[in-house]
Amino acid sequence: MKIGILKETQKGEKRVSITPKIAEQLIGKGFEVFVEEDAGHNSQYKNYYYTEVGAVVSKKKDIFKNADILVKINPFDNEELEKLQKGQVVIAQLFHKSHPEDMKIISKQGATALSLDAMPRITRAQDMDVLSSQNNLAGYKAVIKGAYEMTKIFPLMMTAAGTITPSRVLIFGVGVAGLQAIATAKRLGAIVEATDIRLETKEQTESLGAKFITVDNTGEEEAEGGYAKAASDDYKRRQQEAVNASLFKADLVITTAMVPGRRSPVLITEEQVKQMKNGAVIIDLAAAQGGNCELSKLNKRVVKHGVKIFGATIAPESVSTNASDLFAKNLYNYLVHLTDENGFKWDLEDQITDGTLIVFNGEIRKNGKTE
Ligand code: NAI
Repeated sequence: MKIGILKETQKGEKRVSITPKIAEQLIGKGFEVFVEEDAGHNSQYKNYYYTEVGAVVSKKKDIFKNADILVKINPFDNEELEKLQKGQVVIAQLFHKSHPEDMKIISKQGATALSLDAMPRITRAQDMDVLSSQNNLAGYKAVIKGAYEMTKIFPLMMTAAGTITPSRVLIFGVGVAGLQAIATAKRLGAIVEATDIRLETKEQTESLGAKFITVDNTGEEEAEGGYAKAASDDYKRRQQEAVNASLFKADLVITTAMVPGRRSPVLITEEQVKQMKNGAVIIDLAAAQGGNCELSKLNKRVVKHGVKIFGATIAPESVSTNASDLFAKNLYNYLVHLTDENGFKWDLEDQITDGTLIVFNGEIRKNGKTE
């Protein structure tokens, strides 16, 4: 099968979906690999790195004409979707729930769409889960960005000129990004506290040497498949009471709380920001879904009541080399799972295929059990 790696078109995106190393592994599996000119340029991977391993550097129009499978990280733009041909398979994070119009175009073209963000959260799918691999890096980078913006250092330091007390870091949401943020802030020497609506994260937080702020979650709906459900107003009130003492002392706050398919919960109101320390920093990784801080704005730096608030996306473009390496490995595992020597297996009994197959030969599916 011919697989075409497209250059990302989204503004600011620096990653590439398949790296030269993974292109080589795919060729070893019998795929023919075509890569759009300069697709890997912003992730350190020059065109000749791909040709050295046997891939062919091509023009975009030729890839669309010849490939059986077209891969990207971000959703295909309209111009790209209109170029699709009957029988072609597109693989990307298609965010089909928020981009239903895109699915209609794919269907009209008679193509097939597999969406990486619809990956079921089961153990078998862990090595194909791009949200996890990318969120992990985002959690690390959030701490580094916070450290850069702070006017303090992280660790305790005893010097002849006096003792510097350690900075205090507070993390909301102990998922993949939150756990990596805790680990990174701890390594840098900060005092770290964290909270999550899912109480099973208490043990994970403590195992990294941080303190867990427990909020009574009686009456809240059980989380499903590793995801959190939206919290009630009563929970929000209890959460505020429990975290306020830590929030008002924090030098850096990182928020990562998300609820799939919904606006992110507001966990820090303007009233709370007013009581935070002068010079404190908030990195809001949930900004693309509306933000966990009432004042955050996507991709903007907001300074209010003496607090610097950064609304970031969770995509770790700034560490594009590592992010591309991990994304490509996830994609490789997924492709190997879906295919054999005769091509795609289309095993609809398989939870991974069923969950991620959004459009099949022009027909928009109900997306199996994950819908
Ligand atoms: P996420 O990105 O959906 O959310 C981040 C965190 O915010 C979650 O831990 C969630 O409980 C928390 N949160 C949501 N609303 C909140 C609120 N109102 N207050 C406080 N916290 C709130 O989650 P993520 O990072 O994707 O991971 C969630 C879980 O799923 C983890 O335990 C992870 O290990 C598991 N997972 C399993 C996978 C697999 O088995 N293949 C793949 C990915 C994740």
